[in-house]
Amino acid sequence: MRVLVTGGAGYIGSHTVLELLKAGHEVTSLDNYSNSSPESLRRVCELAGKPVKAWEGDVRFQAFLRDLFMGNRYEAVVHFAGLKAVGESVAMPLHYFENNICGTNNLLAAMQLSDCRRLVFSSSATVYGVPRKNPVDESHPLSAANPYGRSKLVIEDICRDLAASEPGWNIALLRYFNPVGAHESGRIGEDPRGVPNNLMPYVMQTAVGRHPFVKVMGTDYNTPDGTGVRDYIHVVDLALAHVAALERLSDFRGAEAVNIGTGKGASVREVIAAAVKAVGKPIPSQDSTRRAGDAPAVWADPALAHRKLGWKAARDLDAMCADHWRWQKGNPEGYRP
Ligand code: NAD
Ligand code: WQD
Repeated sequence: MRVLVTGGAGYIGSHTVLELLKAGHEVTSLDNYSNSSPESLRRVCELAGKPVKAWEGDVRFQAFLRDLFMGNRYEAVVHFAGLKAVGESVAMPLHYFENNICGTNNLLAAMQLSDCRRLVFSSSATVYGVPRKNPVDESHPLSAANPYGRSKLVIEDICRDLAASEPGWNIALLRYFNPVGAHESGRIGEDPRGVPNNLMPYVMQTAVGRHPFVKVMGTDYNTPDGTGVRDYIHVVDLALAHVAALERLSDFRGAEAVNIGTGKGASVREVIAAAVKAVGKPIPSQDSTRRAGDAPAVWADPALAHRKLGWKAARDLDAMCADHWRWQKGNPEGYRP
């Protein structure tokens, strides 16, 4: 398939571009490199042994998108481009709505104009807010705890409204749980700008000496060891879920949401213990207070993904840590030389 991947140079995008190329698709990336660098795509080409067309451009620029779609006639789009830092979204809500919501609206308009109605969209488990029960399935009530989460909810609604307004749209709203890990080559991986908010990159950067210790944020939750529990998913499994969704888009009637997780929860202490095993040396940590707004525990019911996409996560927490560590050790400063 001729596929446009927006945000193709980013963390999940670069891994997905690689798996799409390996599956024989013709891939073009569109990225403004606001949170990535073209070096990730250069390495993807190296790993795939194939070229990727890469456009530097912004999904907020409507005229540019229209020309791109009319000139290239893509058959499908995988849409990652957007901003994702929860704290930043609280400080700059309009910037988040402009990038995520307006950007997606422009993209859908350009797709409609060029008669391309097949989309895989990066949604998030954040649309479930603080879950009422675990595991969380797709029928769980939706809510937004911050502007980032609201942008995902609004985009999901826009997709549902658009699909209801005219026939022919096939849209997969993939709700990712907690993506971690890296490609097993150690050549591509997550390269957060500034101090990471997420647990796994913080743990791995601590292991290479970029931070003195990991804060265990909350030790008094009602969970087996008192620390927060999440459903961590290997980024290569997540990339493969996109390939599966793309290849089964014709089974999606309008816009349908699917959870992408493992179905298993791991606590903060379990993640740190698995990381210590992968790294082979102690990683300093200190107990600390809860982070405002955090849910005690979140894990997915991934049954629908299995039924609808024929996809299941295959990589466990040890593989996630081993692969993330290979990337971090080989690239202590990320893609920067
Ligand atoms: P990322 O920041 O690594 O990738 C996003 C890419 O989009 C970057 O390369 C960035 O430069 C690009 N981009 C941002 N705004 C753009 C714009 N206006 N025009 C063109 N390109 C733009 O993030 P990621 O972790 O790979 O996440 C990809 C998607 O998945 C995002 O939409 C994110 O919200 C969603 N998601 C991520 C997670 C996670 O924890 N990583 C979880 C659930 C959902
Ligand atoms: C995981 C656990 C923390 C950092 C976030 C977004 C969500 C989604 C994925 C995009 C929690 C604890 C963390 C640290 C810690 N992104 N923790 N010390 O909060 O589940 O989800 O990323 O859609 O929208 O909110 O992930 O990795 O930040 O936290 O103890 O330094 O680790 O309290 O229990 P989270 P996380």
